[in-house]
Amino acid sequence: MNIRTLTNDEKLPWDLLLLADPSRLIVQEYVKNAVIYVGELEQKIIAICVVKETAKTIVEIMNIAVCESMQGQGFGKQLIHFAVQEASKRGYAQIEIGTGNSSIPQLRLYQQCGFRIVGVDFDYFTRHYDEKITENGLICRDMIRLSYEL
Ligand code: COA
Repeated sequence: MNIRTLTNDEKLPWDLLLLADPSRLIVQEYVKNAVIYVGELEQKIIAICVVKETAKTIVEIMNIAVCESMQGQGFGKQLIHFAVQEASKRGYAQIEIGTGNSSIPQLRLYQQCGFRIVGVDFDYFTRHYDEKITENGLICRDMIRLSYEL
């Protein structure tokens, strides 16, 4: 998969953004001033990773998604490694990511990529999302915060 930055004149791949985050309003807010990496296969965008500066020395992966038919083939891992390397090259000290308490495969993936759990934002999803989110037999309530020291 070839990874590049999405340019300002290109349309946002909403189908991918909404795969990782069901709230269009929340996505619309965090894509402002963010760097958007897209993964392509045969010139077709199949994956996305939105990275945003949240403090002078910290960036956060706000959104990461691989199109459903291409999942489970290592593209997500490749994108995360790319985002980590880019953040390091750009001089940041830390890269963070947050995910739901119910997002078990994602929690596994981020820890496999070197992220450590550093905190819990209790009731984040109940406070910020109108619709109830359920996955893996769990209600998604809390945001698990993970961080990677660069
Ligand atoms: N179910 C089970 N295992 C999963 C999984 C899933 N849905 N997604 C990833 N994994 C595991 C893989 O088995 C693999 O583990 P392994 O290396 O030990 O075999 C590891 O995670 C990496 O998998 P990879 O193929 O790189 O992941 P991916 O290309 O499917 O991308 C996501 C991972 C999460 C980006 C992708 O599944 C996705 O877009 N999901 C929907 C959107 C989403 O949840 N985004 C994150 C919001 S926090």
